[in-house]
Amino acid sequence: MTDKHDLNRRDFIKAATAFVGGLISMTIGIPAIAYLLSPSLRKTEDESVVNLGPLEKYPIGIPTLFEFTRTKVNGWERTGISYGVFVLRQSGKDVRVFSDICTHLACRVTWHSDQQHYISPCHDGHFDIMGNNVSGPPPRPLDEFVTKIEDGNLYIQLPAFKRTS
Ligand code: FES
Repeated sequence: MTDKHDLNRRDFIKAATAFVGGLISMTIGIPAIAYLLSPSLRKTEDESVVNLGPLEKYPIGIPTLFEFTRTKVNGWERTGISYGVFVLRQSGKDVRVFSDICTHLACRVTWHSDQQHYISPCHDGHFDIMGNNVSGPPPRPLDEFVTKIEDGNLYIQLPAFKRTS
């Protein structure tokens, strides 16, 4: 009778220890695993629409540079990407937005009002005010962004699209 009681007590202690141990493991382990896995399960953040501010602030007929940075999040990896775009407001709500990346070897172009050209400093590539390649090695026009105007603000959609002319 005593042996049986001892055995039952021993079994009970073993079972209780296993139960408490399991509870502790679950309490610590599940949140830890969730924390470690969550970035890889999360979708890439969508920051594809960029607000360039009130359309009215852009002068008509003068390409105006707007710069911004986007952080691309992919799981644990975070990458900062800086963008430069030229806003060309032609009249009223008629607006076009060009990338400042030269289509030759990706140098950043700048606007030269005296020549009415965007010029790439690397190999003297020239683009006219509409972003068309006019001289030098660039093989095609500056890339362009889809635009949207909402409540007086100008938005662009990333990424830029390639133009053929
Ligand atoms: S990178 Fe612009 S002309 Fe070469």
